[in-house]
Amino acid sequence: MSLVHEIDYGTPLSKSEKMVTLTIDGQEITVPEGTSIMRAAMEMGTQIPKLCATDMMDAWGSCRMCLVEIEGRNGTPASCTTPVAPGIKVKTQTSRLAEIRKGVMELYISDHPLDCLTCAANGDCELQDMAGAVGLREVRYGYEGDNHLGLDKDTSNPYFTFDTSKCIVCSRCVRACEEVQGTFALTISGRGFESRVSPGMDEAFFDSECVSCGACVQACPTATLTENKVIEIGQPEHSVVTTCAYCGVGCAFKAEMRGEEVVRMVPYKDGKANRGHSCVKGRFAWGYATHKERILKPMIRSKITDPWKEVSWEEAIAYTASEFKRIQAKHGKASIGGITSSRCTNEETYLVQKLIRGGFGNNNVDTCARVCHSPTGYGLGQTFGTSAGTQDFDSVEDSDVIVVIGANPTDGHPVFGSRMKKRLREGARLIVIDPRKTDIVRTPHVEADYHLPLLPGTNVAVVTALAHVIVTEGLVAEDYVRERCDWDEFQNWAAFVADPRHSPEAVEQYTGVPAELVRGAARLYATGGNGAIYYGLGVTEHSQGSTTVMAIANLAMATGNIGRRGVGVNPLRGQNNVQGSCDMGSFPHELPGYRHIAGDEVRHMFEEFWGVHLDKEPGLRIPNMLDAAVEGSFLGLYVQGEDIVQSDPDTKHVTAGLAAMECVVVQDLFLNETANYAHVFLPGSSFLEKDGTFTNAERRIQRVRKVMAPKAGYADWEITLLIAEAMEFPMPYEHPSQIMDEIARLTPSFAGVSYEKLERDGSVQWPCNDKAPEGTPIMHIDHFVRGKGRFMVTEYIPTDERTGARFPLLLTTGRILSQYNVGAQTRRTENSMWHEEDRLEIHPHDAEQRGIREHDWVRLESRSGSTSLRATITDRVAPGVVYTTFHHPSTQANVITTDFSDWATNCPEYKVTAVQVMPSNGPSQWQEEYEAMAKNSRRIAAE
Ligand code: SF4
Ligand code: SF4
Ligand code: SF4
Ligand code: FES
Repeated sequence: MSLVHEIDYGTPLSKSEKMVTLTIDGQEITVPEGTSIMRAAMEMGTQIPKLCATDMMDAWGSCRMCLVEIEGRNGTPASCTTPVAPGIKVKTQTSRLAEIRKGVMELYISDHPLDCLTCAANGDCELQDMAGAVGLREVRYGYEGDNHLGLDKDTSNPYFTFDTSKCIVCSRCVRACEEVQGTFALTISGRGFESRVSPGMDEAFFDSECVSCGACVQACPTATLTENKVIEIGQPEHSVVTTCAYCGVGCAFKAEMRGEEVVRMVPYKDGKANRGHSCVKGRFAWGYATHKERILKPMIRSKITDPWKEVSWEEAIAYTASEFKRIQAKHGKASIGGITSSRCTNEETYLVQKLIRGGFGNNNVDTCARVCHSPTGYGLGQTFGTSAGTQDFDSVEDSDVIVVIGANPTDGHPVFGSRMKKRLREGARLIVIDPRKTDIVRTPHVEADYHLPLLPGTNVAVVTALAHVIVTEGLVAEDYVRERCDWDEFQNWAAFVADPRHSPEAVEQYTGVPAELVRGAARLYATGGNGAIYYGLGVTEHSQGSTTVMAIANLAMATGNIGRRGVGVNPLRGQNNVQGSCDMGSFPHELPGYRHIAGDEVRHMFEEFWGVHLDKEPGLRIPNMLDAAVEGSFLGLYVQGEDIVQSDPDTKHVTAGLAAMECVVVQDLFLNETANYAHVFLPGSSFLEKDGTFTNAERRIQRVRKVMAPKAGYADWEITLLIAEAMEFPMPYEHPSQIMDEIARLTPSFAGVSYEKLERDGSVQWPCNDKAPEGTPIMHIDHFVRGKGRFMVTEYIPTDERTGARFPLLLTTGRILSQYNVGAQTRRTENSMWHEEDRLEIHPHDAEQRGIREHDWVRLESRSGSTSLRATITDRVAPGVVYTTFHHPSTQANVITTDFSDWATNCPEYKVTAVQVMPSNGPSQWQEEYEAMAKNSRRIAAE
């Protein structure tokens, strides 16, 4: 194995369809108009020396290394900033050019430390390469004059070092931060000899606006910005392309290795979801995979109050199977079930549901997608006929109006957030519908045209009011609707939304959004060109989550914004494989490919293939499993890679259900909160230790590749096979590719997917089959999957969770860039330096009324429970609304949330909880007890 090298073409690809032919060094080449001479040369295999150019961003033309001669033109233009022209004749190598390049390089080197042999970038330094390429043999200017060799290093960032003495002021880092990441954290201060790169106002990296995405480190051609791991352990010697295991963006990375040790994760330019960009999590926060708290030995105990006993894999698996069989013999087939993981691969998820349906003999399988995007499946299925986002991420480049509803892309889906910001800087307009002033509302060079700060729980009313304006002001795309949608249902819906009770003025009193903002936003979306909607959990995690998804789909159909690039309805998926876990049949009523278990034809096909009888009755959802456990009829659970105690609502109910079970089997990397209620702990594997695939928010199936052996001996899919065999339902696969072959054979939308195809094409978006052999980047192009698009009436029904004298504020929750979900991974990395604890955001007015000051401990109390955390006073939230993240188990925001849920899918209503906030002295008693217990577990693990 060797390092995967991607070609740097120097300047970005031109998208022009017009072609231009020119001659470079006597060879003819035809390239799209707008291509730079540098790129054209590179495409025919001629590398022109360069330092300030790189193909991730626009040319800058400052280093003067890339000069060329053009016949008939004076001077020596820079090839990176000079576009091709028809018929020109370019020379890239002449003695004049060689002389100039050597001179320029000599100046650079005369102010650069000559410690190449001991430099961390030795072997991976463009300055070193270019010195060689131009044939520099001597430096005539000594080091006696002014230079920058003694400048201090900035080591404030935990992941990379800024050694400014090595900086050649090429500004690649500054431009990467602006053009690729969109944070504008770096500047070049001073002029001429004095010019230096600095974060913010000459601050340390850690104190600046920098979000540690790593784009500048990747762009730097010298050792000025270098990953600390490279400094620590040296240059990598081989690399493997794989997929980030954090969020639903699905960034592709080169895992650059020394033996079995990861040196760095470098975003892969060929990754079609990320196009060479990354965020702090995927780029740097992978240290959890080798964290000392990982459990590497299987453990069992007969009671959850007993200490754990380490056992062999054989004993743990045999114990699991005998307990499950014993429970089923006594309480019936339906008394056990399992939960699949959206963090595991498609193949692993498929196996768990197959084990449950075929081996357990029931359909008691559910997934954590239940608690996030199940309303997406329902809502988009009803209206469009398929349960997934309609676009690829590239589509945003053609959007004219971007609507963000209940999503925080710069924190939750940062790489896509950067792509969105880029399009906004290019001139697209922005509408944000969110109770909070999220970063995207106002960020460098981006300002929302409309921010609709609705009260949590009123999404349906606001989206229906937008529809009211579109219908009553004659902004419907009638031709589109007549051709593509069911006209009768449209008329029915149009009459409904046109009712004056849905007008912006009528709903303002309970949504809190000024009517003129709703009217302006509706007009902009309907008339501003290509309109694309992106939404997140702020839409789905409500008692009317499914209704809001349908209301969004209605809006898109009414304005003709479905079925081409630049438009669409796009759920921003939370976990890396939440799309895949839904696709793979993780819900109790659906076989893989969203086909109902009661459908005889499909069920018989699976029965025949699996050689087993399948129950036609849908099984239990997670909340129903827990209810049944409390009632005594559900006693065994296999949980792969989920922590339902932390991630599911109403913690008390979850723990009561788990405590009532007789055999809870947890398969995970760490002793998570759910493991406190487990009888068997099976050590899981990280994404670095297995092969498989993830499916991202664009329906893109991408390979996960093993870069090291499983630390505990088995990959997660192999553990499921061991259980299946012990349950006498053997599943003899030798490699995940065989599992994918079976998925393809049984699932029409995956029929064309295979590992061979993924090796060849890098990735593919489902549906991929005979009708779409290359996959489907954009859905519903000529017609909706269900035939005619279906408008659904979306009556606003306020949640039963109401504010009142006792609980006067509304709590809503979300995530932060540096942490991920319940924090099991990110809290075990240096990312915690940015977010050590969950904080409560409260408006200055509400804080003052309660005598709360910045950083004070406050008690947050709802009808379900209470917790304490510290306050951040900010007008990002409106008066009456408070907000917190849920990354730290010592806070457990879900102690507060209620058991209200979406009417169609049971997705919990995380985003609306009536609460009271009051000053407190510190953590509450249960938090102190929890901290003591967690410390103890950490100590045991360390021993
Ligand atoms: S790490 Fe990212 S955000 Fe920070 S300075 Fe570099 S490019 Fe900008
Ligand atoms: S830090 Fe690196 S990328 Fe930035 S200006 Fe200096 S040499 Fe160029
Ligand atoms: S945006 Fe998501 S997928 Fe990409 S690197 Fe960050 S966490 Fe990973
Ligand atoms: S690479 Fe063209 S001027 Fe620097």
